[in-house]
Amino acid sequence: MNATGAVAAAVVPAAGRGERLGPGAPKALRELGGVPLLVHAVRALTRSRAVGLVVVAAPADGVAEVVGLLDSHGLDGKDVRVVPGGATRQESVRLGLAAIPAEVEIVLVHDAARPLVPVEVVDAVAAAVRAGAEAVVPAVPLADTVKRVEPNPGGPEPVLDTPDRSTLRAVQTPQGFRRETLAEVHAKALAEENAGGADALPAVTDDAGLVERFGGRVVVVPGHEEAFKVTRPLDLVLAEAVLARRRASDAY
Ligand code: CTP
Ligand code: MG
Repeated sequence: MNATGAVAAAVVPAAGRGERLGPGAPKALRELGGVPLLVHAVRALTRSRAVGLVVVAAPADGVAEVVGLLDSHGLDGKDVRVVPGGATRQESVRLGLAAIPAEVEIVLVHDAARPLVPVEVVDAVAAAVRAGAEAVVPAVPLADTVKRVEPNPGGPEPVLDTPDRSTLRAVQTPQGFRRETLAEVHAKALAEENAGGADALPAVTDDAGLVERFGGRVVVVPGHEEAFKVTRPLDLVLAEAVLARRRASDAY
């Protein structure tokens, strides 16, 4: 506990390969300004007074390397643990969540691939959960018009319709949850998967999506353009530019 209330724990899924980024080390270990993406992401969390513990789900064959990396970078004296991640993001989050002590009531889930999320976003998500929401996602309005299509890889794709852009949001992380809610939806998703039912359902790409699937209520708070996910090579170019601007303008 501290002056701001209950302290949250954060799970950082970092076990992905980063295939869309191209050949090289696993994405979380790729460098931005000379520092691995994962270290940036963990620092963004430990900088928040709302976060007391961070559990990283590392590539299963890279746990020792990740422990070494985190040890060699100062992390504000916060408790940072590393567990082996899984074959999917969902599994990595589930494994990270299992390593969080039972008494922790608020859990944030933050992609290692979002290294530059401002601390204000972390604080705002944790505060919204503390204020009573069971699931909170930071999100930003879309710049582009979006169309739904009939997928036809390699060929022209017929447009089905154009959703009203003013009602759409692009969601980011950290997403925040009552721990009980997050644990429950992950357990249900695993049970579904084991029963072979998952194929019939649309893929869920974030944790809030699981809450929605099982009937829970998710709310959106303002995200930040700098919380973008490093997915493709151009994202790394943008991230380097944002970091350089920060380093030039303050003691970052
Ligand atoms: N992730 C994970 N375990 C997996 C797959 C993904 O922990 N089995 C994590 C990634 O490390 C990343 C986050 O989930 O921090 C978001 O996923 P994404 O951006 O898709 O990263 P990758 O899966 O690594 O990239 P790609 O899909 O291009 O291979
Ligand atoms: Mg992926």
